[in-house]
Amino acid sequence: MFETLVPQPADKILQLMQMFREDPRTSKIDLGVGVYKDADGKTPIMRAVKEAEHRLWNQQETKSYTALAGDPGFRGAMTDLVLGDAVTGDQVAGAATPGGTGAIRQGFELIGMASPEATLWISAPTWPNHLSIVKYLGMPMAEYRYFDSATRAVDWDGMMADLEQAKPGDVVLLHGCCHNPTGANLNPGQWHEVADLLLKKGLVPFVDIAYQGFGDGLEKDAYGVRHLARTQPELLIAASCSKNFGIYRERTGLLMAVAQESGRLALNQDTLAFLNRQNYSFPPDHGARLVTMVLEDGALRQDWTAEVEDIRTNILSLREALTEELRARTGSDRFGFLAEHRGMFSRLGATPEQVEAMRESHGIYMVGDSRINMAGLNATTVPILADAMVAAGL
Ligand code: LMR
Repeated sequence: MFETLVPQPADKILQLMQMFREDPRTSKIDLGVGVYKDADGKTPIMRAVKEAEHRLWNQQETKSYTALAGDPGFRGAMTDLVLGDAVTGDQVAGAATPGGTGAIRQGFELIGMASPEATLWISAPTWPNHLSIVKYLGMPMAEYRYFDSATRAVDWDGMMADLEQAKPGDVVLLHGCCHNPTGANLNPGQWHEVADLLLKKGLVPFVDIAYQGFGDGLEKDAYGVRHLARTQPELLIAASCSKNFGIYRERTGLLMAVAQESGRLALNQDTLAFLNRQNYSFPPDHGARLVTMVLEDGALRQDWTAEVEDIRTNILSLREALTEELRARTGSDRFGFLAEHRGMFSRLGATPEQVEAMRESHGIYMVGDSRINMAGLNATTVPILADAMVAAGL
């Protein structure tokens, strides 16, 4: 059997992590994988999460199984965080998953089970692992234009024109905020127009929200997904806690299935639990329990909210600083898009050769499509990146 195995395509983000590790230069700069780093290059455990871990260690008396869909408290707390008052509890089925990727995968499984003919519409570009999983599962797939490489903003006309081609019942994968890899996002008016189009054409939205709080704030970043929850008959959501709770390795996420029609909850909930059982049985609990404790305790939640806000404003200051350095070097505003983008990422628009040149000359590691992780920068490295960009001819 093993003799039939062939090498699989490398994930470009993980490959870059490895290259960075192997580079002996001490001056190297990691703008690759989407992990938040502070000014010292550390990915700290958030204060409220650490405190919740202390409490959990003291209080927890068993590690026996929870429920197949995870602890109901986690589902409730996360539904409240992501959807606020856009829904009532009896509309939302949810299952804890191993990270946001687990939620994506389980969502795709649900689509394959319920609607195998549906085409999944994915933004071009998107997070590479979306494409990899869809391909692996053999799902019908199509891309919609999303990013205008000249303006580095959303290719709005292209997106709407492409989604017009979808057939009723197709599923549209949307990034809730902080689009990965581009950093270009829909504004509230555009979310309304997308919602109208989905309704008109009978399409089902699937929102991947992995960076809530890192763009315009915890509430504003949920504007689009909440609008869809209010207006669409059905909605799938994959929410990740990896980034905004800083618990990457705990693998904590939630798949939600929102239905307007009453009476759908029990079957939707049973289906999500069934899918968990088929793939890994019970989902990881540790991270989910920490998230629930943080969200349900007034003081912990307040402290966590403040820390997320610090992260967000730090990323925004780095955006402003880089834009300023580039303005000073080029005498132009052509990098103004960096200050407009939101979230951890921006796509610079460099060619693969320019990306390589910046890696060779300055030890700067970014994904081959020129996605940079803003949070990988600090006051010292911002001017170095600006120098490298100019030297590479951007
Ligand atoms: C990223 O886009 O860099 C992160 O979501 C990490 C990953 O798993 O790719």
